[in-house]
Parts: sequence; C-alpha cells; structure tokens
Amino acid sequence: MPATTPPKTFHVKSFGCQMNVYDGERMAELLTAKGMTSASEREDADLVVLNTCHIRERATEKVYSDIGRLRRDDGTTPIIAVAGCVAQAEGSEIMARAPSVRVVVGPQAYHRLPEMVAQAAAGGRVTETDMPAEAKFAALPKRRRSGPSAFLTIQEGCDKFCTYCVVPYTRGAEISRPFADLVDEARLLVEGGAREITLLGQNVNAWAGEDDKGRATGLAGLAEELAKLPDLARIRYTTSHPADMDDALIAAHSSNEKLMPFLHLPVQSGNDRVLKAMNRSHTAEGYLRLLDRVRAGRPDIAISGDFIVGFPGETEAEFEDTLRIIDAVGYAQAFSFKYSPRPGTPAATMDGQVCGEVMDERLQRLQSALHRHSQAFNQTTIGRRCTVLVDRKGRQPGQMLGKSPWLQSVYFTGDAAIGDLVEVDMIEAWPNSVAGKLAA
Ligand code: 5AD
Ligand code: SF4
Repeated sequence: MPATTPPKTFHVKSFGCQMNVYDGERMAELLTAKGMTSASEREDADLVVLNTCHIRERATEKVYSDIGRLRRDDGTTPIIAVAGCVAQAEGSEIMARAPSVRVVVGPQAYHRLPEMVAQAAAGGRVTETDMPAEAKFAALPKRRRSGPSAFLTIQEGCDKFCTYCVVPYTRGAEISRPFADLVDEARLLVEGGAREITLLGQNVNAWAGEDDKGRATGLAGLAEELAKLPDLARIRYTTSHPADMDDALIAAHSSNEKLMPFLHLPVQSGNDRVLKAMNRSHTAEGYLRLLDRVRAGRPDIAISGDFIVGFPGETEAEFEDTLRIIDAVGYAQAFSFKYSPRPGTPAATMDGQVCGEVMDERLQRLQSALHRHSQAFNQTTIGRRCTVLVDRKGRQPGQMLGKSPWLQSVYFTGDAAIGDLVEVDMIEAWPNSVAGKLAA
C-alpha cells in the first residue's frame, strides 16, 4: 500500500445496536482528542470508520456494499477502518476480500485506533482483535459534551450463549465496568448537558460491582447512586435478560423515581420447546410470572421485547404460542426479526431450517399483532399529562419531538428547546408516536 498523508478529517458510521452508537461516539472523541476534525459528509473525510454489526446477515452484506461505495470518482479511497462486530468475527476475510480496507479493529481494541490509523497512513494494513476489555475504557479520553439523552456502556459481553446469537463470540465474556468509573463518567455526561442516561450492556442487568463502601451491588444499586446526581432527571437501561432480573432491580422500579417506567425484556419466542432449543433459560410461563412481579411494583410500566420468527424447527403451532404471549403481555413496543443463521452458532446447523416464505408470512402476522398492541398502549396514555424530554426538532415549522417516561415519541408545537423537560397533554395515539399539546 502506498503511504498517504496523515488524515485530518474523519467520519464514523455506526450500524446496529445502541452499544455501537456509544462505541462510535467514543471513537469520534478519541480521534478529536488526537487533533482530527469530524467531517459531516463521509465523501469529504480522509478517514472513514465503518462501525459494523454482525447480529444478522443483512448487516454483514451492508459492510461490503458500503466499502464499495467509498471509492471516489478518481479511483482513490479514504483510509477505511472496519470496526465493530464484523471486524471481530470476520477480520481476516475482510482484509482478503476488500483490499481498500486498511484497518480492522474489534470492539474491545478501538482505544488503539489512532495509532493503527497512523500505521495505515504510513502504508501498512493493521488488524487488532484482542479482547482485554478493561484496557479500553481506561485509555479513552474523558467525556466533555453530551446531548440531552446520553448512552453509557456499563457492561459488555455475554455468557448466555443463546444458540442463534453471535454476541458471545464477537463481544466476548460478560464484564462489568467498575462502579466508581461509571459514576465519574455519568457525572461528566450530566455536566456536559445530559438529562437522561441510558445504561447499556448486552446483559445490562447482569452488571455487578462494589459500591464506594466496598459492598457488592447490582444494577439497582448503581442506578440508586446515579439518581443522586441532581441534574440527572432520567435513568434507563437496556438490554436485559429475564434470568438476571433480580428482586432489587424489580424493587427499584417502584422506589427509584428517576428510573423510568420502561423495561426492554426480550422473550424471543412464546413456546417452551423453541425456548429450550434457543438455550433461553426461561419458559413462557416463567417470563409472564416475572412480569407480574414487575407490574405489581410499577403497574404503568411499558414492556418492550425482541422476537425471532422461523427459528429452526419452529412449527405453525409453536409460532402461534408467540402470538399468544404477545397478547398476554401487551407490549408497548418491540423489535422482531426473521431468524438468520450465523456462522459458528449451534442453531445454524440445526435441522428444520424454515424457508423464507414461511418466515415472511410469520413476521408479517407477528408485526401486525405488535402494531395493534403498541397502538393500544399509546392509547392508554391519551388524556394524561406527562413530562417530555425534548430531544430534537420536528419536520413541521415550530414542531418539537421528545420522549415520554414510557419512551414514546411525542410531538407537539410550541416554545421549547432541545434538552427541556416540558409538560405535555397527550392527545392522539399512533402506533409509533403520540401527538401532544404543550401544557399552559
Ligand atoms: N437471527 C435473528 N435475530 C437475531 N437476534 C440475535 N441473533 C439473531 C439471529 N441469528 C435478535 C434477538 C436479539 C436481538 C438483539 O437480535 O432477538 O434479542
Ligand atoms: Fe445473544 Fe442471548 Fe446473549 Fe442476548 S442473551 S446477547 S440474545 S446470547
């Protein structure tokens, strides 16, 4: 590879989950701290970081088409760095298949990005996919600025090994960041403008640590400490596993006023045979009883979930159990996916792979059920007055958008600025949003 001048501008593009959004922000902060500036259009950038997702097939294909699109009219390309979970899982394939990629960096090694980019600018091609997660956070610069709603990764990795999922392989074993580091980072985010913090982890409710007095504590204890930050108004967390939903966290939903009434708790399927084949450690009934306990302490809590249709061997009757659990729970919102075989996972080689047409048809029925429930949930909030955290401008003149405590998108017209917490009367429900009116 010919040497190029060291890059002055960069563009980071993140795909996939919120943790990738967080990682993308941290990479941008790191490059900024090294004197580079962010280019708003990637066509103008000397360095493009594609922060990738490997969770489903389409996401991986997108990486290669994105790499192709980075070729400029004169045949040159910026320095291309592939980061994230595709980099971790398929680093050597990427290097072989895409000669224009100069840097491959896994999710636990991106604190080394600046030096790797320097090596690439000097003509090299570099790969770093080691997994010592603790080193990364300590090596990142302190956070100085934040939008009203900030992400904070508190836990990474997964030990659950659901048979369809690549995360345990791409993100590694479960690790929890230390309590004191998290309280510090949260404080800086709040000083930098955050009113809401969403705590992130692949199994965020498996977070475990020791508080400032050396006592063992879980997510509930961390949330309690963060709630002491006066200018922090809201705390959220995602994604949770039913097996890690402990009594303290359930209790926190009624005792911690800053903990928002929203719980993303994926069930994946409503059928016990499928759940077992997925290596989920819960049954459909166990999941429902857990939600009963959560709702006993916080009756208005909005429940959100993830669903997979067409897991290998899933029959029509088993799929109908998933429709039944959706009716039993009444999800406020949810994400749903067609099963995608991931290389190296146990489910990819299971018998009974379901054909595309059947998956399409099941996904459509599932999504229409989920739509019905999200509309119904939004309808229950109509007529109420609630606090909205304003996070952006709407498309119409004077229109603003924000989030209700139940994570609904609420839009209204009126005098409010991004970052304000305003009182809004909820007027009209849609499946994915609510129209409101600014209270006098
Ligand atoms: N195929 C389809 N969906 C998947 N998910 C994870 N792995 C797969 C896969 N191989 C979904 C699960 C998970 C969400 C983040 O992505 O529903 O909760
Ligand atoms: Fe994947 Fe299951 Fe771990 Fe979630 S709990 S990251 S679905 S293996």
